[in-house]
Amino acid sequence: MTTEAAYGRPPPDVAQVGGAALQLSPLVLGSTAIEAIADRSLDRITVLAPPATLERRYVLAHALRVLRPGGQLVAAAPKAKGGARLAGELEALGASPTTESRRHHKICTGRRPESLDALAEAIAAGAPRQEANGLWTQPGVFSWDRLDGGTAVLLGVLPAMAGRGVDLGCGLGLISRAVLSAGEVSEIALIDLDRRVVDLAARNAPDPRARVLWRDLREPQSDLAGLDFAVSNPPFHDGGAEDRALGQAFIRRAAEMLGKGGVLWLVANRHLPYEAELKGAFAKVRLAAETGGFKVYEARR
Ligand SMILES: C[S@@+](CC[C@H](N)C(=O)[O-])C[C@H]1O[C@@H](n2cnc3c(N)ncnc32)[C@H](O)[C@@H]1O
Repeated sequence: MTTEAAYGRPPPDVAQVGGAALQLSPLVLGSTAIEAIADRSLDRITVLAPPATLERRYVLAHALRVLRPGGQLVAAAPKAKGGARLAGELEALGASPTTESRRHHKICTGRRPESLDALAEAIAAGAPRQEANGLWTQPGVFSWDRLDGGTAVLLGVLPAMAGRGVDLGCGLGLISRAVLSAGEVSEIALIDLDRRVVDLAARNAPDPRARVLWRDLREPQSDLAGLDFAVSNPPFHDGGAEDRALGQAFIRRAAEMLGKGGVLWLVANRHLPYEAELKGAFAKVRLAAETGGFKVYEARR
Protein backbone atom coordinates (compact mmCIF):
# COMPACT_ATOMS: atom_id res chain seq x y z
CA MET A 1 0.00 0.00 0.00
CA THR A 2 1.31 3.45 -0.92
CA THR A 3 1.49 5.87 2.01
CA GLU A 4 0.79 9.37 0.87
CA ALA A 5 0.39 12.78 2.51
CA ALA A 6 -0.41 16.31 1.40
CA TYR A 7 0.56 19.66 2.90
CA GLY A 8 -2.19 22.05 1.84
CA ARG A 9 -4.47 21.71 -1.14
CA PRO A 10 -2.77 22.47 -4.46
CA PRO A 11 -5.16 23.13 -7.37
CA PRO A 12 -5.92 19.71 -8.94
CA ASP A 13 -4.61 20.82 -12.34
CA VAL A 14 -1.29 21.80 -10.69
CA ALA A 15 -0.68 18.65 -8.62
CA GLN A 16 -2.86 15.60 -8.05
CA VAL A 17 -3.34 14.37 -4.48
CA GLY A 18 -4.73 10.89 -3.80
CA GLY A 19 -8.04 10.71 -1.95
CA ALA A 20 -6.46 8.74 0.93
CA ALA A 21 -3.60 11.22 1.47
CA LEU A 22 -3.07 12.30 5.07
CA GLN A 23 -3.48 16.09 5.36
CA LEU A 24 -0.60 17.86 7.18
CA SER A 25 -1.37 21.57 6.78
CA PRO A 26 -1.82 23.37 10.12
CA LEU A 27 -4.54 25.45 8.45
CA VAL A 28 -6.81 22.43 7.89
CA LEU A 29 -8.84 21.48 10.97
CA GLY A 30 -8.14 17.93 12.13
CA SER A 31 -4.89 17.62 10.18
CA THR A 32 -1.84 15.80 11.56
CA ALA A 33 1.28 17.84 12.37
CA ILE A 34 4.08 17.22 9.86
CA GLU A 35 6.48 17.28 12.82
CA ALA A 36 4.71 14.19 14.22
CA ILE A 37 5.30 12.07 11.08
CA ALA A 38 8.09 9.52 11.51
CA ASP A 39 11.27 9.73 9.42
CA ARG A 40 11.27 7.62 6.23
CA SER A 41 7.59 6.68 6.53
CA LEU A 42 5.91 7.99 3.33
CA ASP A 43 6.08 6.98 -0.32
CA ARG A 44 4.83 10.31 -1.62
CA ILE A 45 4.14 13.80 -0.29
CA THR A 46 2.59 16.70 -2.20
CA VAL A 47 3.25 20.18 -0.83
CA LEU A 48 1.58 23.47 -1.67
CA ALA A 49 4.60 25.44 -0.49
CA PRO A 50 3.91 28.52 1.68
CA PRO A 51 5.01 31.96 0.46
CA ALA A 52 7.28 32.94 3.39
CA THR A 53 10.89 31.76 2.93
CA LEU A 54 11.76 30.33 6.37
CA GLU A 55 8.38 28.65 6.64
CA ARG A 56 8.66 27.21 3.10
CA ARG A 57 12.17 25.79 3.68
CA TYR A 58 11.00 24.34 7.03
CA VAL A 59 8.04 22.58 5.39
CA LEU A 60 10.12 21.32 2.43
CA ALA A 61 12.79 19.98 4.80
CA HIS A 62 10.18 18.12 6.87
CA ALA A 63 8.59 16.80 3.67
CA LEU A 64 11.93 15.36 2.55
CA ARG A 65 12.64 13.99 6.05
CA VAL A 66 9.42 11.93 6.14
CA LEU A 67 9.99 10.33 2.70
CA ARG A 68 11.22 6.78 2.40
CA PRO A 69 14.43 6.45 0.37
CA GLY A 70 13.14 6.43 -3.22
CA GLY A 71 9.94 8.21 -2.18
CA GLN A 72 8.73 11.23 -4.15
CA LEU A 73 8.17 14.86 -3.19
CA VAL A 74 6.01 17.05 -5.43
CA ALA A 75 6.18 20.70 -4.33
CA ALA A 76 4.26 23.49 -6.04
CA ALA A 77 3.95 27.23 -5.48
CA PRO A 78 2.62 30.18 -7.51
CA LYS A 79 5.57 31.71 -9.40
CA ALA A 80 5.18 35.08 -7.67
CA LYS A 81 4.78 33.54 -4.19
CA GLY A 82 7.92 31.50 -3.77
CA GLY A 83 7.55 29.30 -6.88
CA ALA A 84 10.47 31.01 -8.62
CA ARG A 85 12.76 29.99 -5.73
CA LEU A 86 11.47 26.48 -5.19
CA ALA A 87 13.95 24.60 -7.42
CA GLY A 88 16.97 26.42 -5.91
CA GLU A 89 15.77 25.76 -2.39
CA LEU A 90 15.17 22.06 -3.06
CA GLU A 91 18.59 21.80 -4.72
CA ALA A 92 20.17 23.33 -1.60
CA LEU A 93 18.32 20.75 0.52
CA GLY A 94 19.80 17.98 -1.65
CA ALA A 95 16.56 16.86 -3.34
CA SER A 96 17.88 17.11 -6.97
CA PRO A 97 14.56 18.44 -8.30
CA THR A 98 13.18 18.49 -11.82
CA THR A 99 10.92 21.45 -12.57
CA GLU A 100 7.90 22.17 -14.75
CA SER A 101 5.54 25.15 -15.04
CA ARG A 102 1.75 25.02 -15.17
CA ARG A 103 -1.10 27.40 -14.36
CA HIS A 104 1.28 30.15 -13.09
CA HIS A 105 2.89 27.64 -10.70
CA LYS A 106 6.35 26.10 -10.55
CA ILE A 107 6.12 22.41 -9.80
CA CYS A 108 9.21 20.55 -8.60
CA THR A 109 9.64 16.82 -8.16
CA GLY A 110 12.44 15.64 -5.88
CA ARG A 111 13.74 12.78 -3.75
CA ARG A 112 14.95 12.31 -0.20
CA PRO A 113 18.62 13.37 -0.02
CA GLU A 114 21.40 11.09 1.23
CA SER A 115 22.65 13.66 3.75
CA LEU A 116 20.16 15.21 6.16
CA ASP A 117 22.44 18.07 7.35
CA ALA A 118 20.75 20.75 5.22
CA LEU A 119 17.32 19.52 6.34
CA ALA A 120 18.27 19.84 10.01
CA GLU A 121 19.43 23.42 9.46
CA ALA A 122 16.19 24.44 7.66
CA ILE A 123 14.06 22.73 10.31
CA ALA A 124 15.91 24.52 13.12
CA ALA A 125 15.51 27.90 11.35
CA GLY A 126 11.74 27.48 10.99
CA ALA A 127 10.92 25.84 14.33
CA PRO A 128 8.93 27.36 17.23
CA ARG A 129 11.14 29.59 19.36
CA GLN A 130 10.94 31.68 22.50
CA GLU A 131 12.00 35.31 22.04
CA ALA A 132 13.98 37.31 24.59
CA ASN A 133 10.70 38.92 25.73
CA GLY A 134 9.40 35.46 26.67
CA LEU A 135 6.94 35.22 23.78
CA TRP A 136 6.70 31.94 21.83
CA THR A 137 6.50 32.36 18.06
CA GLN A 138 7.28 30.56 14.78
CA PRO A 139 8.28 31.82 11.33
CA GLY A 140 5.24 31.89 9.05
CA VAL A 141 2.48 32.54 11.57
CA PHE A 142 0.74 35.92 11.60
CA SER A 143 3.15 38.76 12.45
CA TRP A 144 5.59 36.24 13.93
CA ASP A 145 8.54 38.63 14.37
CA ARG A 146 6.92 41.99 15.10
CA LEU A 147 3.89 43.49 16.78
CA ASP A 148 1.21 44.05 14.12
CA GLY A 149 0.21 47.71 13.69
CA GLY A 150 -3.49 46.94 14.15
CA THR A 151 -2.84 44.91 17.29
CA ALA A 152 -0.77 47.78 18.71
CA VAL A 153 -3.56 50.32 18.03
CA LEU A 154 -6.17 48.07 19.68
CA LEU A 155 -3.95 47.44 22.72
CA GLY A 156 -3.46 51.21 23.02
CA VAL A 157 -7.18 51.92 23.56
CA LEU A 158 -8.60 48.67 24.94
CA PRO A 159 -10.17 49.26 28.40
CA ALA A 160 -10.13 46.61 31.14
CA MET A 161 -12.54 43.76 30.34
CA ALA A 162 -14.67 41.84 32.85
CA GLY A 163 -16.44 38.48 32.98
CA ARG A 164 -16.39 35.78 30.30
CA GLY A 165 -15.01 36.52 26.87
CA VAL A 166 -13.45 35.39 23.62
CA ASP A 167 -10.49 36.38 21.44
CA LEU A 168 -11.49 35.76 17.80
CA GLY A 169 -8.43 34.89 15.69
CA CYS A 170 -6.09 34.94 18.70
CA GLY A 171 -2.80 34.46 16.82
CA LEU A 172 0.07 34.30 19.32
CA GLY A 173 -2.31 35.47 22.05
CA LEU A 174 -1.07 39.03 22.53
CA ILE A 175 -4.51 40.60 22.92
CA SER A 176 -5.59 37.88 25.37
CA ARG A 177 -2.44 38.37 27.43
CA ALA A 178 -3.30 42.05 27.78
CA VAL A 179 -6.94 41.26 28.63
CA LEU A 180 -5.91 38.73 31.27
CA SER A 181 -3.47 41.15 32.89
CA ALA A 182 -6.15 43.79 33.59
CA GLY A 183 -9.73 43.78 34.80
CA GLU A 184 -11.94 41.13 36.36
CA VAL A 185 -11.80 38.47 33.67
CA SER A 186 -13.16 35.09 34.80
CA GLU A 187 -12.44 33.18 31.56
CA ILE A 188 -11.43 33.74 27.97
CA ALA A 189 -11.54 31.41 24.96
CA LEU A 190 -8.74 31.99 22.45
CA ILE A 191 -9.80 30.73 19.00
CA ASP A 192 -7.75 30.33 15.83
CA LEU A 193 -7.70 28.24 12.66
CA ASP A 194 -3.90 27.86 12.62
CA ARG A 195 -2.82 24.87 14.74
CA ARG A 196 0.65 26.35 15.18
CA VAL A 197 -0.64 29.50 16.86
CA VAL A 198 -3.06 27.47 18.96
CA ASP A 199 -0.02 25.66 20.43
CA LEU A 200 1.97 28.90 20.75
CA ALA A 201 -0.91 30.88 22.31
CA ALA A 202 -1.33 28.12 24.91
CA ARG A 203 2.30 28.68 25.89
CA ASN A 204 1.95 32.47 25.75
CA ALA A 205 -1.16 32.58 27.93
CA PRO A 206 -0.48 29.95 30.61
CA ASP A 207 -3.41 31.08 32.74
CA PRO A 208 -6.10 28.79 34.19
CA ARG A 209 -8.73 31.26 32.93
CA ALA A 210 -7.55 30.83 29.30
CA ARG A 211 -8.77 28.04 26.99
CA VAL A 212 -7.25 27.78 23.51
CA LEU A 213 -9.42 26.27 20.77
CA TRP A 214 -8.47 25.13 17.25
CA ARG A 215 -11.56 26.10 15.30
CA ASP A 216 -12.79 27.73 12.09
CA LEU A 217 -14.75 30.89 12.87
CA ARG A 218 -16.50 30.75 9.50
CA GLU A 219 -18.59 28.11 11.30
CA PRO A 220 -21.05 28.93 14.14
CA GLN A 221 -19.74 28.12 17.65
CA SER A 222 -22.88 27.10 19.52
CA ASP A 223 -21.05 26.16 22.75
CA LEU A 224 -19.94 29.78 23.28
CA ALA A 225 -22.89 32.00 24.20
CA GLY A 226 -23.94 34.74 26.60
CA LEU A 227 -20.39 36.14 26.79
CA ASP A 228 -19.57 39.55 28.27
CA PHE A 229 -16.85 40.60 25.83
CA ALA A 230 -15.10 39.77 22.57
CA VAL A 231 -11.82 41.12 21.22
CA SER A 232 -10.56 40.72 17.67
CA ASN A 233 -8.06 41.74 15.06
CA PRO A 234 -9.75 39.71 12.32
CA PRO A 235 -7.96 38.31 9.27
CA PHE A 236 -8.68 39.81 5.90
CA HIS A 237 -6.65 37.42 3.78
CA ASP A 238 -7.51 33.86 2.89
CA GLY A 239 -4.86 31.91 1.01
CA GLY A 240 -3.05 35.17 0.18
CA ALA A 241 -6.03 36.95 -1.42
CA GLU A 242 -7.96 39.72 0.32
CA ASP A 243 -11.19 38.29 1.72
CA ARG A 244 -13.47 40.78 3.43
CA ALA A 245 -16.08 38.11 4.03
CA LEU A 246 -13.77 36.58 6.63
CA GLY A 247 -13.84 39.70 8.85
CA GLN A 248 -17.58 40.01 8.33
CA ALA A 249 -18.02 36.39 9.48
CA PHE A 250 -15.96 37.19 12.59
CA ILE A 251 -18.33 40.08 13.39
CA ARG A 252 -21.38 37.81 13.05
CA ARG A 253 -19.72 35.18 15.28
CA ALA A 254 -18.98 37.82 17.94
CA ALA A 255 -22.60 39.00 17.88
CA GLU A 256 -23.84 35.40 18.26
CA MET A 257 -21.51 34.69 21.18
CA LEU A 258 -22.20 37.86 23.19
CA GLY A 259 -25.07 38.21 25.63
CA LYS A 260 -27.25 41.32 25.77
CA GLY A 261 -25.07 44.31 26.68
CA GLY A 262 -21.90 42.36 25.76
CA VAL A 263 -19.19 44.34 23.98
CA LEU A 264 -16.95 43.69 20.97
CA TRP A 265 -13.66 45.55 20.55
CA LEU A 266 -12.45 45.15 16.97
CA VAL A 267 -9.55 46.66 15.03
CA ALA A 268 -9.37 46.75 11.24
CA ASN A 269 -7.50 48.44 8.43
CA ARG A 270 -9.26 51.71 7.72
CA HIS A 271 -10.26 50.72 4.17
CA LEU A 272 -12.19 47.62 5.20
CA PRO A 273 -15.99 47.89 5.00
CA TYR A 274 -17.09 46.57 8.38
CA GLU A 275 -19.47 49.35 9.53
CA ALA A 276 -22.55 47.93 7.83
CA GLU A 277 -21.95 44.45 9.27
CA LEU A 278 -21.39 45.92 12.75
CA LYS A 279 -24.47 48.13 12.60
CA GLY A 280 -26.59 45.21 11.39
CA ALA A 281 -25.50 42.92 14.25
CA PHE A 282 -25.07 45.31 17.22
CA ALA A 283 -27.35 47.80 18.99
CA LYS A 284 -24.64 50.48 19.39
CA VAL A 285 -21.50 50.99 17.34
CA ARG A 286 -18.84 53.58 18.18
CA LEU A 287 -15.62 54.43 16.34
CA ALA A 288 -13.31 54.42 19.37
CA ALA A 289 -10.06 55.31 17.58
CA GLU A 290 -8.69 56.00 14.12
CA THR A 291 -4.94 56.19 13.80
CA GLY A 292 -2.03 54.82 11.76
CA GLY A 293 -4.34 53.49 9.03
CA PHE A 294 -6.49 51.51 11.48
CA LYS A 295 -9.95 51.91 12.98
CA VAL A 296 -11.02 50.51 16.35
CA TYR A 297 -14.72 49.91 16.95
CA GLU A 298 -16.58 49.36 20.19
CA ALA A 299 -19.85 47.56 19.39
CA ARG A 300 -22.44 46.70 22.03
CA ARG A 301 -25.24 44.12 21.76
C1 LIG B 1 -4.88 39.53 11.87
S1 LIG B 1 -4.44 38.03 12.71
C2 LIG B 1 -4.56 38.55 14.42
C3 LIG B 1 -3.77 37.70 15.36
C4 LIG B 1 -3.72 38.22 16.80
N1 LIG B 1 -5.03 38.41 17.36
C5 LIG B 1 -2.95 39.52 16.85
O1 LIG B 1 -3.58 40.57 16.94
O2 LIG B 1 -1.72 39.48 16.77
C6 LIG B 1 -5.87 37.05 12.44
C7 LIG B 1 -5.80 35.61 12.97
O3 LIG B 1 -7.02 34.96 12.53
C8 LIG B 1 -6.70 33.62 12.22
N2 LIG B 1 -7.73 33.10 11.28
C9 LIG B 1 -7.78 33.24 9.94
N3 LIG B 1 -8.88 32.65 9.45
C10 LIG B 1 -9.54 32.11 10.50
C11 LIG B 1 -10.74 31.37 10.65
N4 LIG B 1 -11.47 31.05 9.59
N5 LIG B 1 -11.12 30.98 11.89
C12 LIG B 1 -10.36 31.28 12.97
N6 LIG B 1 -9.20 31.99 12.90
C13 LIG B 1 -8.80 32.40 11.69
C14 LIG B 1 -5.31 33.67 11.62
O4 LIG B 1 -4.67 32.41 11.73
C15 LIG B 1 -4.65 34.78 12.47
O5 LIG B 1 -3.95 34.22 13.56
